[in-house]
Amino acid sequence: MLIAGNWKMFKGPAEAEAFAVELRGRLEGVSGVDVAVCPPYTSLAAVVQALDRSEIAVYAQNVHWAGDGAYTGEVSPAMLLELGVAGSIVGHSERRQLFGETDETTAQRAAAALAAGLRVIACVGETESEREAGETEAVVRRQTEAIRDAVGTHDGLTLAYEPVWAIGTGKTATPAMAQDAHATIRSVLDVPILYGGSVKADNAAELCGQPDVDGALVGGASLFVDSFASICETAARIS
Ligand code: PGA
Repeated sequence: MLIAGNWKMFKGPAEAEAFAVELRGRLEGVSGVDVAVCPPYTSLAAVVQALDRSEIAVYAQNVHWAGDGAYTGEVSPAMLLELGVAGSIVGHSERRQLFGETDETTAQRAAAALAAGLRVIACVGETESEREAGETEAVVRRQTEAIRDAVGTHDGLTLAYEPVWAIGTGKTATPAMAQDAHATIRSVLDVPILYGGSVKADNAAELCGQPDVDGALVGGASLFVDSFASICETAARIS
């Protein structure tokens, strides 16, 4: 089971470092769950240092497919590896919706990052209107196939099912909805699958307890040591 905290555009280096030190202390002695935090780029180095020789992994929130080149605003897999970063999220719905990320660029990012030796959490998930139109299965299938076609199964690959309507809204997919989508995804690509979308300390057990749910990608609740640590503790208890 993996619990990953997606900090989005929160926590500069000083705040991130203090958080990492506190989280590290709080999770000492918690075993049976893998934990990762995903700070913004400028906080990665501080968090890698603060978590040196700890069990908590540090992931970026995005990564480019090229080794280097004229790609203003992008960061390569090698640059992350040089910092000591273990992996990256790719294809988050905020990237897809706000920054033009597509199935194709998500798959390219995933394939290059894995080839370079990073771990990857690749996100899929339907919008509210797609769910209302009965397209959930087709959408997550299409998004997952794009990743599968570029990567196949890979030890370093984890998927995250994040229904867009549940992200940052307080609306959570029911455990049954999550399980259905996860089963669809697994039928296309059999790798660990996290659930994401308003995961909190009080719903983590139910969601992570579904047979095809292998952990959680946590946004808002990952910004506070107490709520993030208690989600990790819950996952450790039920795994
Ligand atoms: P949320 O975000 O937990 O705040 O809904 C999840 C995500 O975007 O990864």
